[in-house]
Amino acid sequence: MKTILVTGGTGYIGSHTAVELQNKGYNVIISDNLSNSSADVIDRIEKITGVRPIFIKADLSKEQEVSVIFDTYHIDGVINFAAFKAVGESVEKPIEYYMNNLQIAMNMFVNMKRKGVKYFVQSSSCTIYGEPDKNPINENCPPKFAVSPYGNTKQMVEDMLHFITRDGLIQAIALRYFNPIGAHPTALIGELPNGVPNNLMPFITQTAAGIRKELIVFGDDYPTPDGTCIRDYIHVVDLAKAHVVAMERCFECRNKINFECFNIGTGNGFSVFDIIKSFEKTTGIKLNYRIGKRREGDVVAIWADTSLAEKELGWKAVLTLDEMTLSAWNWQKTLNKEKIL
Ligand code: UD1
Repeated sequence: MKTILVTGGTGYIGSHTAVELQNKGYNVIISDNLSNSSADVIDRIEKITGVRPIFIKADLSKEQEVSVIFDTYHIDGVINFAAFKAVGESVEKPIEYYMNNLQIAMNMFVNMKRKGVKYFVQSSSCTIYGEPDKNPINENCPPKFAVSPYGNTKQMVEDMLHFITRDGLIQAIALRYFNPIGAHPTALIGELPNGVPNNLMPFITQTAAGIRKELIVFGDDYPTPDGTCIRDYIHVVDLAKAHVVAMERCFECRNKINFECFNIGTGNGFSVFDIIKSFEKTTGIKLNYRIGKRREGDVVAIWADTSLAEKELGWKAVLTLDEMTLSAWNWQKTLNKEKIL
């Protein structure tokens, strides 16, 4: 069976992807610097799948540490999650974000070429589209100027791939995620935000758990049906499976061109109030929230046209919004029980 290097594999999306890869029999090597995750995620992946992935703690922004991994193991494909990802922090520390996120990608490309590793799946984001001119948005819409260095690094890695894959020695797929939420049904892995969460779902679960006093809804005066912003929330397990099918498309040489991009969402737009309602319904908890000011930089509404992923990857999100909010809550209960948060 083929071996896949999952960079950033102890993180939120990486850990769920490692589980799905192992469930399909792939050998998984996880490398992570643990700057934003914990090594016990490896135990949890083993608990879920019955298989312990190989784990290498490494700073992947250092070429030497990456080359050791490529020299030690035979690798068939790379899925690259390793990156700094806090939007606000990236505005404060742009150079650190460019250095880290771009250097990690470059170190992968250099070593893949050196060792003849051909297949690469990149963690990208719908943030590259900015505010859409129309919804649902498809992959042909040109990216808009990034609002943050974080988003810019996602655009830049896509741009690099466009040229790097030209000779065909590396073939790549970028998956442009919409808003991943939820957690594994076992409630053994999930999102573990550092400090006060910026994203909606962990803020909701932490508020319900009493860790935060109240959720502030960032504006209810947007030009949307209920006045709150609209996003395409996708269950992290569906998202993880998209990486498996993307990697398999490469292995089976089904790529149409050397570098392909796919939207990974559900194709449905839900408002902030929709998420709150779903959470209250599935958990039976009344959420403490109030309306606040708009957050700077928020797009009003975005959801995905997922027809390309359906047609080409044969992949479609199947889990519902209620499954997303309930699984996020179950994971929060694990965090409470184990006194992690
Ligand atoms: C954010 C990032 C995006 C990143 C994504 C990862 C920004 C501008 N964008 O997207 O680059 O890829 O996270 O998932 O930060 N909300 C509240 N109250 C809160 C938190 C959020 O009302 O306390 C609202 C926001 O205004 C937004 C929605 O919830 O309408 C979703 O917010 P969030 O989870 O932060 O995701 P995005 O802003 O879409």
